[in-house]
Amino acid sequence: MPPEAQALLELRDLCAGWGQVQVLHEVNLELYEGEIVCLLGGNASGKTTTMNAILGMLSLCSGEIRLAGERISGLSPPEIMARGVAIVPEGRRIFPRLSVAENLELGAWGRQDGAKALQQDIERTFARFPRLAERARQMAGTLSGGEQQMLAISRALLGRPRLLLLDEPSMGLAPALVDEVFDLIREIHDAGTTIFLVEQNARMALELACRGYVLQQGRVILQGTSSELLNSTAVQEAYLGG
Ligand SMILES: Nc1ncnc2c1ncn2[C@@H]1O[C@H](COP(=O)(O)OP(=O)(O)O)[C@@H](O)[C@H]1O
Ligand SMILES: [Mg+2]
Repeated sequence: MPPEAQALLELRDLCAGWGQVQVLHEVNLELYEGEIVCLLGGNASGKTTTMNAILGMLSLCSGEIRLAGERISGLSPPEIMARGVAIVPEGRRIFPRLSVAENLELGAWGRQDGAKALQQDIERTFARFPRLAERARQMAGTLSGGEQQMLAISRALLGRPRLLLLDEPSMGLAPALVDEVFDLIREIHDAGTTIFLVEQNARMALELACRGYVLQQGRVILQGTSSELLNSTAVQEAYLGG
């Protein structure tokens, strides 16, 4: 990407944590419009905390977060989502006792473009996922894990985000469904959404992404293009099975 390009998302010297416990230490990273960037790291390295910080869910000790040049750190999660950031949270977090259709509608709460545009997007979602259409009035908790993940991703997309945060979207899914989720991520990216992807499945994530960052104990210890990371001995040993 050209050095003069404005980053879509920038984390600058970000320090943040939960209560008195600092989890992230001077994290610097950026995403440019149109990229898929992955964030790798072992358990408890701070990946979910990074996602939560971007969404405004924790207070920062220092540093800042910018979206398209505008400072968003300090804003509330609804304000940040209204600026075009959506998340598919770890563990999906659909509302099990609401219907599939109600779950989808919740993803669109911040939209200002009218009921008709929303209806069209919901119809497009149902055309893309016939299983969700068949179960539109059913409680979302009755869906299979794979269907719940498709619902969680579809719900996030109904906010028409410019930046989509995906926190371990393939977690707990059978291999065929993992492939389906990755195909869907590619499709969302091709349709113009910038994607920040946290994944345990490092190889698949790096094959999909253009660049990546590796977190260890809340610090970025490595960054590079996907091929640099795939060829890095440290990444191979820690995340690609040697
Ligand atoms: N809601 C929370 N409250 C307190 N501590 C948390 C919370 N979420 C995560 N942590 C702590 O933050 C650290 C990083 O966790 P997390 O960001 O979830 O890691 P990862 O997603 O990389 O597995 C861990 O030590 C974890 O215990
Ligand atoms: Mg996590």
